[in-house]
Amino acid sequence: MIIVFGSANVDLVMALPSLPAPGETVLTEGYQAVPGGKGANQALAACRAGSDTTFVGAVGEDAYSELALSLLSSEGVDLSPVKFSDRPTGCAVVMVDDDGENAIGVASGANLDVQAGQINDQLLQKTDVLVLQQEVPVEQNAELARRARAQGVEIVFNLAPAARVPDEFLADVDYLIVNQVKAAFLAGEADPGEVHTLAHTLARDHNLTTIITLGAEGAHAVSGDEIHSISAPVVEVVDTTGAGDTFTGYLAAGLAAGKPLKQCLSQAVGAASLACTRLGAQSAIPKAGQLTELSVPG
Ligand code: RIB
Repeated sequence: MIIVFGSANVDLVMALPSLPAPGETVLTEGYQAVPGGKGANQALAACRAGSDTTFVGAVGEDAYSELALSLLSSEGVDLSPVKFSDRPTGCAVVMVDDDGENAIGVASGANLDVQAGQINDQLLQKTDVLVLQQEVPVEQNAELARRARAQGVEIVFNLAPAARVPDEFLADVDYLIVNQVKAAFLAGEADPGEVHTLAHTLARDHNLTTIITLGAEGAHAVSGDEIHSISAPVVEVVDTTGAGDTFTGYLAAGLAAGKPLKQCLSQAVGAASLACTRLGAQSAIPKAGQLTELSVPG
């Protein structure tokens, strides 16, 4: 069983001919309001990968709360630990250009009230993998990681978006998923340099498995003596929003199912690549059966 502890948002998605520069206004015809948030996206990805998944987050008592949780609810993710907050439901403005690149602004709202105490120890005892990211308060992530570690739960941490991460928290993490730029930031390097050196440095310094996501180039992982470089299939990119979340959810699902790391990585890269071929975050997350379209090993 997987617990994803994190954010839920409503995404206001607009496809623009180009992303606005500072001070610029770019017009487009319309927009879609759809469920998003890194935590909720990762929970849906784990669920679509076939895992029994619980999402733990917070929403406001407002019109957006139902939309934010709608796909998680309809696809059978357990939402019983989700709480209501006095703040509004989180909301993201997601702008996507003609090349599929995006720029995202997030109003955190209720996500700031997500608390480790929403999960009791009985639930942690039944959990194989806990998934964390950076859109809820870091001290709540740290508290939950410490409790989960004591119960023998494997902890997957996606360092996104970039923010300060205490070393004591990283000491409780088993799998660190991070892109190359954020990996360099974490390692204290000004220049990302060579990806394997970076992954190896982080794995050694924090005693964890490092997985560096490389966009269209796939992913590189260092886990003790194990090294895996996984190439991504070539796809026609429409929108990269949520690709990292799809990767994280699929990776966690593979780990919870006891699959070898290399197979977990291949499926995560395959699923993230497929997610880039459609507009939107949650709507673009593939179901496990669709990975065969890319000949990803099952
Ligand atoms: O990773 C993509 C997500 O980031 C979007 O769904 C948006 O809500 C922001 O949290």
